[in-house]
Amino acid sequence: MSDVIKKAIFPAAGLGTRFLPATKASPKEMLPIVDKPMIQYGIEEAISCHINEIIIITGKHKRSIEDHFDYAFELEDKLKKSGKKNLLEEINRLSKINIAYIRQGYALGLGHAISCAKPFVKEEPFAVILSDDIIDPEDTLLRDMVRLYKELRSPVLALERVPVSEIHRYGVIDGVRERDGVFRISNLVEKPSAEHAPSDLAIIGRYILTPEIFDILAKSRPGKGGEIQLTDAIRKLSKERPVYGFLFEGRRYDAGDKLGYLKATVDFALKNPSLAEQFRSYILEVSRKLKH
Ligand code: G1P
Repeated sequence: MSDVIKKAIFPAAGLGTRFLPATKASPKEMLPIVDKPMIQYGIEEAISCHINEIIIITGKHKRSIEDHFDYAFELEDKLKKSGKKNLLEEINRLSKINIAYIRQGYALGLGHAISCAKPFVKEEPFAVILSDDIIDPEDTLLRDMVRLYKELRSPVLALERVPVSEIHRYGVIDGVRERDGVFRISNLVEKPSAEHAPSDLAIIGRYILTPEIFDILAKSRPGKGGEIQLTDAIRKLSKERPVYGFLFEGRRYDAGDKLGYLKATVDFALKNPSLAEQFRSYILEVSRKLKH
C-alpha cells in the first residue's frame, strides 16, 4: 500500500443541531470564522500537507458548500473590473481546489459518512478531517500525523487530553504510551460517561486511516445514539492491526460548540492583519467594562 496520503474526506452531512436555528437551512460547515467558512480552514490545512484530493460528504441543505468552491464568473468579473486583485486571487484559488462531492442520503452517523467515500478512496490510506475541530493554522498536527503514518504504516488518530467534565462528548481511547506523544491503542469507546471512560485521551477530528476500515464499516451496526460510529469500526480495526494515537498539545477549537466557535472567532480576528488593531482595542474596552 502507498505511504503517500493524497486524499482527505470531510464529512459534512450532519444536521448541525448544536447551532440551530442558524443551521436550519444552511450548513454548519459554512458558518464563518471571521471571513472564511469553517470548512475552508480544514481544506487549507489538508492542502498545506500536500493532500490535494478533497472528498466532501454532503447531505440536504449543503449546496452552498459546492457553490463556495465553484467558479463565480460574475463575482470574479466584477472584482477584476474594480481592480480588487487580492480578493480576486483569493476567490479564484478556491475554485481551483480538486473537490469531489458524495451525497449521503441519510445522516446515519460518522462511520456511515466515511463509508460513502469508499469508491473514491479505493486502496489508499487517507485522512479524515472533521471541519468543526479547527486547528490553529500555525500548528503542524496533520503534518506530524502524516509523518508518523509513513514511519509506522498504520492508522493514526489525533488525541487530546480533556477534562473529566468533557469526556462524554468524545471518542476516548485506552492504550500504552510507546514514546513521547505516541500511544498504541488497545480500546476505543464512543462518548463514555466519565466513570466508564478508559482514560482522559479524547479523539479529536483528525484521522489517518487505511482502507481496511471500509470492510469493517460495511458490517457495522448502529452504536451510540443509534448511529454507525467510526470509533466502533476503529476499535475492531485495532484488534486486527496496530492503531496509534498521536497526542496533540497545540491549540484546537471545538467550533461545533458555541463557546468554542466564539473563542476561535476572537483568536482569529486578533491575528487578522486588517482587523487585529481595532479589534484588540475593542476587546480591551469590553474587558475594562466587565471588570467594573
Ligand atoms: C465525533 C466522533 C468522536 C470524536 C469527535 C471529535 O463526534 O464521533 O469520536 O471524539 O468527533 O470532535 P461528534 O463531535 O461528531 O459528535
